[in-house]
This record gives sequence, C-alpha cells and structure tokens, in this order.
Amino acid sequence: MIKKQHLALFALMAFAVASNTTPNNAEDKKTQTGIEVVAPQANHLDTAEDCAKPTKYPNQDKPMALMMRQMADNAQKMKDKIESGSIVNAADFPFIRFHLVEPTDPDILQPQFFENARMFQEAHKALVTSGKEKQREMYTAYIAQCINCHQTYCSGPLKRIRKLVLN
Ligand code: HEC
Repeated sequence: MIKKQHLALFALMAFAVASNTTPNNAEDKKTQTGIEVVAPQANHLDTAEDCAKPTKYPNQDKPMALMMRQMADNAQKMKDKIESGSIVNAADFPFIRFHLVEPTDPDILQPQFFENARMFQEAHKALVTSGKEKQREMYTAYIAQCINCHQTYCSGPLKRIRKLVLN
C-alpha cells in the first residue's frame, strides 16, 4: 500500500518536472541557436481575432494595446506629413518598442510575432532615414508591415490600418 502511494507520488513528481522543464528547454534552444521555429498554426490564431474590439474595461488595457493606438495615431500624422510634402523623421517618430511589453493575449508571443516585429522595425528605420523622394515608397512598405502582422495576429484593426495607406 505504502509502496503504491510512493509510486503514485513519484509519477506525479516526474510529470511535474517534465511539464515544467520542456517549455524552458525549448526556449533555451531558441535563444541559443538564434533559429526561430515558426508555429504551423500561426496563420489561424483565433484567439487574437477580436483584439481590437472596443474594450469593455478601458482601465485594464494592456501596454501593447496602448502602444498600438499610439502607433496608429503616429501613422496618421506621418501620412498627413508625407501628403503635404514634409519630412517624416526619427525625432518626431521614434520606434515604439511594443513587442517588449505585455499584450492582451499572451498566446501571440510566438517566434513569428517577433519576426514580424523585426521586419516592421526595419521598415520603420528605412522610412525615418529615407530621403524625401523615397518617403512615399518607404511609408507604403511600413504600412504593409502593419498589415502583414495584423493578418496573422490581430485582424480586427485591419480596416482602420488600411485607411492609413497613402491616397
Ligand atoms: C508584429 C505584429 C504587429 C505589428 C507590426 C503591428 N501590430 Fe498592431 N497589433 C498587434 C497586436 C498583437 C495587437 C493587440 C495588442 C493588445 O491587445 O495587447 C495590435 C493592436 C493594434 C490596434 C488596436 C489597439 C487597441 O485599441 O486595442 C491598432 C489600432 C493597431 N494594432 C494598429 C497598428 C498599426 C497602425 C501598425 C503599424 C504602424 C501596427 N499595428 C503594427 C500586432 C502588430
């Protein structure tokens, strides 16, 4: 009887250890090799679909949602500037490090999300460092990266984002 109990306890502990260490190992591997594994289900993330619904609890909005709103406001200002012929620079529009803060839905924090964020950051850099004659093109590429990530991780705001495309 006692032996059986011990066995059950051991099995339970082994399970706890296994389930505890597996994700950590995977995480370590990722950071050590620098190779990012793309989750096969990344294209159909139902959980993030409704991420832009008007929130019921505005005081509980997560930092990533707040930063996204700032980014959308900034993009509108960029669009206005470019269309009126003025220059968009890094001093007025620094990169917002949204990918480092807490999202509403932690399930989005997958390798593909960070890869999208990296490509978006590159597009931002290209935009704010480009000369005036390249700005329209670079801005278009920048908004394309918003759309690219949102098609996978948060389709709700796509309609709003598409309005940020240059006329
Ligand atoms: C790497 C992925 C990614 C990129 C790039 C990205 N977004 Fe988002 N965006 C998200 C995710 C994920 C959320 C949900 C954030 C949350 O609720 O915490 C979001 C939320 C939003 C929201 C809704 C915020 C709210 O009110 O809750 C807007 C608007 C938005 N993004 C606009 C933009 C615009 C404009 C750009 C480009 C300038 C952009 N996003 C680039 C992933 C991305």
